[in-house]
Amino acid sequence: MAKTKSIHGEWSSRFAYILAATGSAVGLGNIWKFPYITGENGGGAFVLVYLGCVLAVGIPIMIAETMMGRRGRQSPINTLSTLSTEASVNKNWHYLGWMGVIAGVLILSYYSVIAGWASAYVFKAIFGGFSSDAMQVKASFDELIASPLQLIFWHTAFMIATMSVVMRGVRGGLEKAVQLLMPSLFVLLIILVGYAMTTGEAYFQGLSFLFSPDFSEIDSDAVLTAMGHAFFTLGLGMGAIMVYGSYLPSGVSIAKTTLFIAGADTIVALLAGIAIFPLVFANGLEPGSGPGLIFQTLPIAFGNMTGGWLFGVLFFVLLVFAALTSSISLVEPVVAWMVENRGFTRVKASVISGIAIWVIGVGVALSFNIWSEFKIFDKTIFNFLDDLTAKVMLPVGGFCIAIFAGWMMQQKHVKDELDMPEQQYQIWKFLVSYVAPAAVFLVFLHVLGIF
Ligand code: PFF
Repeated sequence: MAKTKSIHGEWSSRFAYILAATGSAVGLGNIWKFPYITGENGGGAFVLVYLGCVLAVGIPIMIAETMMGRRGRQSPINTLSTLSTEASVNKNWHYLGWMGVIAGVLILSYYSVIAGWASAYVFKAIFGGFSSDAMQVKASFDELIASPLQLIFWHTAFMIATMSVVMRGVRGGLEKAVQLLMPSLFVLLIILVGYAMTTGEAYFQGLSFLFSPDFSEIDSDAVLTAMGHAFFTLGLGMGAIMVYGSYLPSGVSIAKTTLFIAGADTIVALLAGIAIFPLVFANGLEPGSGPGLIFQTLPIAFGNMTGGWLFGVLFFVLLVFAALTSSISLVEPVVAWMVENRGFTRVKASVISGIAIWVIGVGVALSFNIWSEFKIFDKTIFNFLDDLTAKVMLPVGGFCIAIFAGWMMQQKHVKDELDMPEQQYQIWKFLVSYVAPAAVFLVFLHVLGIF
């Protein structure tokens, strides 16, 4: 019989869970990554594929992952052991939990470096203000990423912040951090969209770049990038939402909360795109200029607008917090596992995992400057870890979660946990058993050139 409570505690309410899970979903993926990968992959068609993946693959798997977490009530590794015993299937399923734990560690190692860039921009905003000149803004970004010391300093600061929230545990740490921050970030994005509207012609160019699909712009790698991003942005496929689901009180509707979270996540990404692309076009910048995109565009807006100093500071502060609420969900699976299986206190588990992640992150920071020539499979450390996690580990993890929920678990247990009207259940069941796994599988075959 599944447990009814987690040893790590529970969210204090449905609302607290929604905030925390939205905090996990909304992060650098929406504001930093979505715009630059959309820029690199030609715009509208890429956005459509991404939206299709969120709907047909992401949402059904998110429901499955949360449901499995709440039924297992432990870290993903132990949840999968418990659920495979309950379903009388092979115990090896718990390796899926391991893959998730490893993916979380790898993602956080580079996520923290990028969150470090955002932290550095808080200080740039406070002390220097921003220039309205695109060349100067770019030079300032280039100067930051060329400096190993600055990158390592900010990465270290961000890791310390993350681990000190995680140490405090489910209610004390995780919940408190999100309550005010999420809504504020939303308001700031709306202000930026308002500014983007003042760019006249460029505003419409930006909208058309984002929303008029030209399918000749995308190839199989773009489709994989879009699908991988659907997993990344929703925080799926590695146990983050599973572990958050394990702290979810019984009786809260998983389907409804998931729809809300996925909706909010998608809206934030689209707003970020609408705020950024007009600036790209208004300043003659290159949409495909890569990971530096938001750092080379948004400061121009802050440099130009009235009150830009204040908005600039606020925006980067909120971006750092959005990153923080995602980071804590990236380490929670490994911390929960160490507490359960090694008997560590949360503090000890946080320190150990934090140090390991920090070390890998130093390699990522250096891959932007002195180690930029060091390649793994022809990619820098940053690109390698990003591709390995977002394009391989998360989709594979998500695929396995869909198979587990759709084919391995007993229907009555799933129904018990989801507690939704029969017709909706049948739709979900079809999506998770057939559509989502088939989509992931076909995209992989396509990328490998087999289909
Ligand atoms: N969803 C986060 C973002 O978009 O920034 C990143 C993330 C969180 C990825 C949790 C994976 C995860 F499990």
